[in-house]
Amino acid sequence: MIIGVPKEIKNHEYRVGMIPASVRELVSHGHQIFVETNAGVGIGFSDDDYIAVGASILPTAADVFAQADMIVKVKEPQAVERAMLKEGQILFTYLHLAPDFPQTEELIKSKAICIAYETVTDNMGRLPLLAPMSEVAGRMSIQAGAQTLEKSHGGQGLLIGGVPGVEPAKVVIIGAGVVGANAARMAVGLRADVTILDRNVDTLRRLDEEFQGRAKVVYSTVDAIDKHVTQADLVIGAVLIPGAAAPKLVTKQHIAKMKPGSAVVDVAIDQGGCFETSHATTHADPTYIVDEVVHYCVANMPGAVARTSTFALNNATLPYIVKLANKGYKDALLEDKGFLRGLNVIYGQVTCKEVAEAFGLQYLDAELALEKFS
Ligand SMILES: NC(=O)c1ccc[n+]([C@@H]2O[C@H](COP(=O)([O-])OP(=O)(O)OC[C@H]3O[C@@H](n4cnc5c(N)ncnc54)[C@H](O)[C@@H]3O)[C@@H](O)[C@H]2O)c1
Repeated sequence: MIIGVPKEIKNHEYRVGMIPASVRELVSHGHQIFVETNAGVGIGFSDDDYIAVGASILPTAADVFAQADMIVKVKEPQAVERAMLKEGQILFTYLHLAPDFPQTEELIKSKAICIAYETVTDNMGRLPLLAPMSEVAGRMSIQAGAQTLEKSHGGQGLLIGGVPGVEPAKVVIIGAGVVGANAARMAVGLRADVTILDRNVDTLRRLDEEFQGRAKVVYSTVDAIDKHVTQADLVIGAVLIPGAAAPKLVTKQHIAKMKPGSAVVDVAIDQGGCFETSHATTHADPTYIVDEVVHYCVANMPGAVARTSTFALNNATLPYIVKLANKGYKDALLEDKGFLRGLNVIYGQVTCKEVAEAFGLQYLDAELALEKFS
């Protein structure tokens, strides 16, 4: 198979779909890899590094899209990239379609086979291709939140862990999945006063065991959110309903009741955000203020630590890329129900229920779609 790796073009995005070690692995299976020039330069991989492991370098993204049977990326394709997709071409990347109608519409029109990292599941129902970026974003959310609480960033002027004799900041984490648990570990490590909310009691039990009282674990109800958010210095939004737009758990009224100079970090912004007052920001201009509460809503947080993130992402995606390349998309998807859940759009048909529901589009079961179109 011919695999294409274009350079990412989203604001301050330096990650790359395949590092040289991944290219080497695919080349050893007999595949041909075309990499756009300078695709990895932002994280220290030169064109020569790719050539050394058997890739060919192409001068433009248009060349890569024109030649490849499968495009491997990191972020959702931007409008100019969507315009280059071809009928029957495999696109394997993060998509986050549910809050993004223009992208959904154009992927439908492209008739490409669009497999989203973030909806692939493993045999335990977890999200193995979202997890590495969630680990990164969860850990970063506390770094970002701690900075945001500093006076020069618009915050109250709080040190997240306090000092002996001075109380630490109250950190409330909504959603205790991969992002939330990693955020909690960092916040506890920095000696903040940490409360974690989730609706999954098993998850709460596990974290209660892990933290042994160093973080409070609370069942998430409207009442609990009301109480803890309004008392918090820093709130981390980390909920997810897979494939669906994030529920708006924190309202405008909650934000208005928070202390001036408090901070909110909406990690779930890539699924539309779980605060009513959130809108996506970029690393170039990450924060804005609503009712004296500083909002940090960067949709590609791991992009800031692009080298760490790229290695973590490639560790997770490589076995799936190998399967797609070796077996073809139909067999690779049909023999792994969890991988099949990654299929969001194929030949113009939406195969992710949550995306179809979000936009009132017709839904077709992924297995039926594979039978129909392959
Ligand atoms: N901004 C970024 O750069 C970035 C990076 C990585 C992940 N994310 C996003 O972060 C979000 C969380 O990802 P994750 O991997 O931790 O997901 P996850 O599935 O591991 O965890 C989500 C948690 O939310 C909980 N939840 C659902 N409804 C809830 C409610 N009403 N109250 C409290 N908890 C609730 C679930 O029980 C689950 O434990 C996703 O939207 C993901 O796309 C963003």
